[in-house]
Amino acid sequence: MSQFSQLLLNWYQINQRSLPWRNDKNPYYIWISEIMLQQTQVVTVIPYFLNFIETFPTIADLAQSNENKLMKAWEGLGYYSRSRNLRVAANQIVTEFDGEMPATRNELLALKGIGPYTASAIASIAFNEVTPAIDGNAFRVFSRVMTEASDIGEAKSRPIFENIGNQLISESNPGDFNQAIMDLGSQICTPKAPECEICPVNSVCLAFKSKTQLNFPKKAKKIKKKDIYLIADLVMNDENQLLFEQRADVGVLKNMWLFPMREVDKAEYLAIEKLAVGQVKHIFTHLNWHILLVPELSFRIAEANEQTRKWLSLKALNDYPIPTVQYKLINKIPKSFFK
Ligand code: ADE
Repeated sequence: MSQFSQLLLNWYQINQRSLPWRNDKNPYYIWISEIMLQQTQVVTVIPYFLNFIETFPTIADLAQSNENKLMKAWEGLGYYSRSRNLRVAANQIVTEFDGEMPATRNELLALKGIGPYTASAIASIAFNEVTPAIDGNAFRVFSRVMTEASDIGEAKSRPIFENIGNQLISESNPGDFNQAIMDLGSQICTPKAPECEICPVNSVCLAFKSKTQLNFPKKAKKIKKKDIYLIADLVMNDENQLLFEQRADVGVLKNMWLFPMREVDKAEYLAIEKLAVGQVKHIFTHLNWHILLVPELSFRIAEANEQTRKWLSLKALNDYPIPTVQYKLINKIPKSFFK
């Protein structure tokens, strides 16, 4: 075992975070936690994880779930395609693997929504396969330990970091090694203020030796996100029901229910700003949504009869997949608006 690995695992024995998916090695639980942990922080994930495995105790339950139940369990976590992919993969497991989670990185890679990081995480944690799980934490820790200057935003850098991981990983305990990298990366080897003085691997870290830890990892500047300007119509009928619209079956927040929205250019957005009762900004991976919530007085009620438009009371929302951005809008409705 590398000296790095020895020091890291000794530290992990004592300092590992107690997390519900670490209580046993059920590969299904590990899979769900890893998908939730993509783009979402540990503290946020914990209650969602516990609720999810209670709602869908087995892979077969997940495979049979209807869309609404699935979206309700995911509501608020964002990046909803992750949950749809989970269900597709659950069906793959039922039909192609007899309902048992496949046990190798290679087979896991064939499942919808499982990429190289997640396949290695599940294979190592649940099945002891010796394969480094390379996520943002691993890029940061490995680049510092080895002063590896390849740009982590470029696809061709990945094999370089996998190679470092393969050299450092513990052959006897690859699952703990990968999780220790995650914990070290989120608690000590952090992006902006790493606590090198108390780091268990500082004696073998080349960046620490040369005081260059803040120069790693290397990453070229990001392209700017696109700004989208939207007007959300706030329409209420005499029964305090609000008009909702289901989004199309493509693109961001597909099939979810929001206030009817239309895109405008920035000039029109600024002109309408004074009519708005609320303003919301919501950030997606490649987009910033700027939304004005505008009471719509002349809305044609007939339009609510279409399949994709419904009058819904706030209570009825429990039965529909509603994204976080929509709850932000609902919170902006003035109390006086309700009759
Ligand atoms: N981030 C991603 N996967 C994780 C895990 N298994 N434990 C802690 N943080 C993580």
